Amino acid sequence: MDVHLTIHGRQNLAGQLYRQLRAGVMDGRLAPGQRLPSTRELALQLGVSRKTTLDVFERLIAEGYLRSRAGDGTFVADAMTRLSPPPTKPATSPATGSIWDEIDDALPMTRTEAPPDYDFVGGVTDKRLFPFDQWRRCVSHALRIQARGRGAYHDPAGEQELRLAVARYLAFSRAVVSHWQEVIITQGAQQALDLLTRVAIRPGEVIAMEDPGYPPARILFAALGARVVPVPVDEEGLIVDALPPNARMVYVTPSHQFPLGMPMSLERRLALLAWAQQHGALVVEDDYDGEYRFEGRPMESLKSLDTAGVVAYVGTFSKTIFPELRVGYVIPPAPLGTALRRARQVSDWHSCTMTQIALAKFMLDGYFAKHLRRMHKEYAARRAALLERLRGDLAQWFTPLPSAAGIHLVAAIRAPHDEAAVIRMAASGSVGLYGTAGMFARAAPRPALLFGYGGIDVAGIQAGLGRLADALSSLRGRAEGPLRQG
Ligand SMILES: Cc1ncc(COP(=O)(O)O)c(C=O)c1O
Repeated sequence: MDVHLTIHGRQNLAGQLYRQLRAGVMDGRLAPGQRLPSTRELALQLGVSRKTTLDVFERLIAEGYLRSRAGDGTFVADAMTRLSPPPTKPATSPATGSIWDEIDDALPMTRTEAPPDYDFVGGVTDKRLFPFDQWRRCVSHALRIQARGRGAYHDPAGEQELRLAVARYLAFSRAVVSHWQEVIITQGAQQALDLLTRVAIRPGEVIAMEDPGYPPARILFAALGARVVPVPVDEEGLIVDALPPNARMVYVTPSHQFPLGMPMSLERRLALLAWAQQHGALVVEDDYDGEYRFEGRPMESLKSLDTAGVVAYVGTFSKTIFPELRVGYVIPPAPLGTALRRARQVSDWHSCTMTQIALAKFMLDGYFAKHLRRMHKEYAARRAALLERLRGDLAQWFTPLPSAAGIHLVAAIRAPHDEAAVIRMAASGSVGLYGTAGMFARAAPRPALLFGYGGIDVAGIQAGLGRLADALSSLRGRAEGPLRQG
């Protein structure tokens, strides 16, 4: 291998190894098609655990830097786009010594080059079903409005008509009642989390979050200098009794725990609100995909149960429209509103007004509700197909976890198989599967996969799972021992 790997200390071993291997691929020291040492050899050579090397390989395979061939090994992917090597950092690089040198690498991006034939990646929606003709009309309307008047900066909280449309939509479909002036439009949920952290948390203060939890939130909180304390979840959601008493903020996904999927029970919701009130903490409710609910009755949002004013409700159009729209919103407790507007203004003034006006029209003219109804039906069919197979011919390998909402579900891998081996086998049949181990702060209690169905239709699900079953069966036939030893 033409890349020298070194490990410093015992901190974030996987992160160190991941960054060095990725850099080797990107700058060409690792050539396309080149075979890498086995995860076992590499673990021995570097003095790290086999799990560390497996996790790193799995992530690099999932991101398209490496590919694996069943029984043959792991290779540098052929279709890597070469970027010119980054200029060597001057000794006095302005970033040196800042917190940005220490936090985890960039957030994962959905792979666009050479995706697998059947990709169960999470966090994507199906744009083929989006009504672009209606959207075009809304954008034309927004352009006509934009062409009028002077070029000027607008309200950091967002365009009035979009705030109104969001307030109406939330009252009607999520039982979150607010005045439009309480709604602050953001660049996706991520910016809402960023602004909330900036105004509510000082560096060194504690943010508690679910474990497993949403990695982009964890990375963001750490980057802003917070001490992030993982709090375990069980089948009722966040274990409120395990919250650290000094937490100033608690980040939760009560409608559809990310990634495991269960809703937070009503009892826990009430306990969390009482806890936050008693400890003077802010609760951030990330309702990222609760629109898609397939079973049972909708549970009251934390915001709608919040009589003490401790909840900031965060939502997004990333799952209902598509992520690159970059529109989300937050309804904070009233006293935080002014600080959030200021934080937004000094950060980037406000979101693009054309997108906001177009989206407001899309919502107020009823196109959004129609699109949601259509997608709900479509995703329900995909989810049903996926569950039927996971509980049917794939039940010898997987156990789906209970989940009533959203556009992904998690299935535990049955012993003795492990995440990396199943992902590798799937990749050999051009099926993209993704593990959940990286979403845990502590060691994951059991191997599990996240099956996203936002970007794969029923036919794809059937064909992809067929290939997966074949790959897993052939492996079982060939291997003497369990997959773990493969
Ligand atoms: C838990 C969670 N929150 C929020 C989001 C959406 O974030 P954004 O609105 O920044 O795209 C996602 C998307 O995958 C998510 O999984």
